[in-house]
Amino acid sequence: MSDSEKTKLRSRRWFDDPADPGMTAMYVERYMNYGITRAELQSGKPIIGIAQTGSDLCPCNRHHIELAKRVRDGIRDAGGIPLEFPMHPIQETGKRPTAAIDRNLAYLGLVEVLHGYPIDGVVLTTGCDKTTPACLMGAATVNIPAIVLSGGPMLDGWWDGKLAGSGTVIWEARRRLAVGEMDYDDFMDAAAASAPSIGHCNTMGTALSMNSLAEVVGMSLPGCAAIPAPYRERGWMAYETGRRIVGMVHENLRPSDILTRAAFENAVVAAAALGASSNCPIHMIAIARHMGVDHTLDDWQRLGPEIPLLVDCQPAGRYLGEAFHRAGGVPGVLRELMLAGKLNTDVMTVTGKTLAENLAPVGEPDREVIRAYSSPLKHNAGYVVLGGNLFDSAIIKTCVIDDKFRARFLSDPGHPNVAELTAVVFEGPEDYHARIDDPALGIDEHTLLVIRNVGPVGYPGGSEVVNMQPPAALLARGIDTLPTMGDGRQSGTSASPSILNVSPEAAIGGGLALLRTGDKVRLDLNARRVDVLIPEEELAQRRAAWQPAERVSQTPWEEIYRSMIGQHGTGACLEPATLYLNILETRGES
Ligand code: FES
Ligand code: MG
Repeated sequence: MSDSEKTKLRSRRWFDDPADPGMTAMYVERYMNYGITRAELQSGKPIIGIAQTGSDLCPCNRHHIELAKRVRDGIRDAGGIPLEFPMHPIQETGKRPTAAIDRNLAYLGLVEVLHGYPIDGVVLTTGCDKTTPACLMGAATVNIPAIVLSGGPMLDGWWDGKLAGSGTVIWEARRRLAVGEMDYDDFMDAAAASAPSIGHCNTMGTALSMNSLAEVVGMSLPGCAAIPAPYRERGWMAYETGRRIVGMVHENLRPSDILTRAAFENAVVAAAALGASSNCPIHMIAIARHMGVDHTLDDWQRLGPEIPLLVDCQPAGRYLGEAFHRAGGVPGVLRELMLAGKLNTDVMTVTGKTLAENLAPVGEPDREVIRAYSSPLKHNAGYVVLGGNLFDSAIIKTCVIDDKFRARFLSDPGHPNVAELTAVVFEGPEDYHARIDDPALGIDEHTLLVIRNVGPVGYPGGSEVVNMQPPAALLARGIDTLPTMGDGRQSGTSASPSILNVSPEAAIGGGLALLRTGDKVRLDLNARRVDVLIPEEELAQRRAAWQPAERVSQTPWEEIYRSMIGQHGTGACLEPATLYLNILETRGES
């Protein structure tokens, strides 16, 4: 390696700066104390960070502790030096009040590490829902060469002779528990059966969706997202990812070269074809904002709705991660979209090649699981972005609107895709659980279940509770889904066609705060509107009388978060953080 190549690496400012022997000695001596030699540190080899998201607290990503060994092997074989460091844990199913609040905390932590330590490039170990966006948001802000290594989904789960998908089995079992078809022990067994191995959720929930989109936008090696966690290919992928990041540092191939507006457009298209999680628009918009790319819900509305559902994975379809991987995974889906002319294929990726070049060798996927564009599972399957007199934006996942739901709520012959419903409003999940079975609420098949105060400020972090189950009395009559709406989110593993991510949220005075039980609400999917049918004067009176509820934060972070968080419609970012773009303007600067 020539001297000029050495001096380009920012890590040289820590480890090999003859102009400042005092500081250099201080940096070098301590990194030698566990066995790295001075010769290695001063060799001019790139220092590669491995952002470790796995831990005992984050079981979905825990196997990254093992995979990181293969990443290290790859980095070493390619002539780099690995330095692994921990990220703040984000376990979707473990963190109270929500894992979502920790996405931005982990993001901040990663920015500080990448900015403040001698790291030339980074391997981002992703998996559980919020770990993927947190990693990509941090890499975007700092803009040093970065590559995603997904942990991969768990093996397929089985229960009662059927595939048991993460989350989806729980929504189903919850219904059966409520109507007495199943007892507590069976319920626990069903849930446990859906998690048969290491890895993240095996349905097309937020984890598999976001890891797939990381691959779609070109931030991971082709084929990375869908390989199940225990497969040997996962270890191979870890090794190749470690090798490749060293090359990326030498090529100075950075997130800003990859995460372009065109790449985010591809993500919108692919999300529809995948039947991806309703959390994806939030996360992709957040990543784009930290990259300084203009990407908004308008892009989701402009590009998504016409795209068909191609992937037959739960919750929109039947299969789980193993089948998706065997059928061809993300490259198989992208091939279909490319042949249909729906992708920007000249975008750069971590391979150093364009998407078109990456896809050139990809063959026809297994049609059982990944359909051809011309014969999809469902036409027009992307997210629809809604507006109206209650909010600026909300989304609805149209690919999970099934025939039963459509027939029950949206089939008025004079007004197809229009429903007039009576609101029953809950103040949060505790209120919902306390009152849902109260006959006095009069909940029937003309009811819209509304939940509020569960947005980014309200909960805080935004709770995944909008997919509310109807009362037991309705379940017993076979009505297992009602239209729902809320300023929270819902699990990406849920098949409920809810009106989600309502922004602005009730806690900051959004229109949902003004809604009352008994109000008539009109849902018009054709016009993409939700309107409460009361006179504007009355709405104005209610608005004038509205008082924000007193909020008690439980931790310092909750208070800080609430003081600067944006809304779901704009990515739920820490707004001041979005002003810090490309903070390492060029390599060698810090
Ligand atoms: Fe971690 Fe679903 S709970 S991926
Ligand atoms: Mg979730």
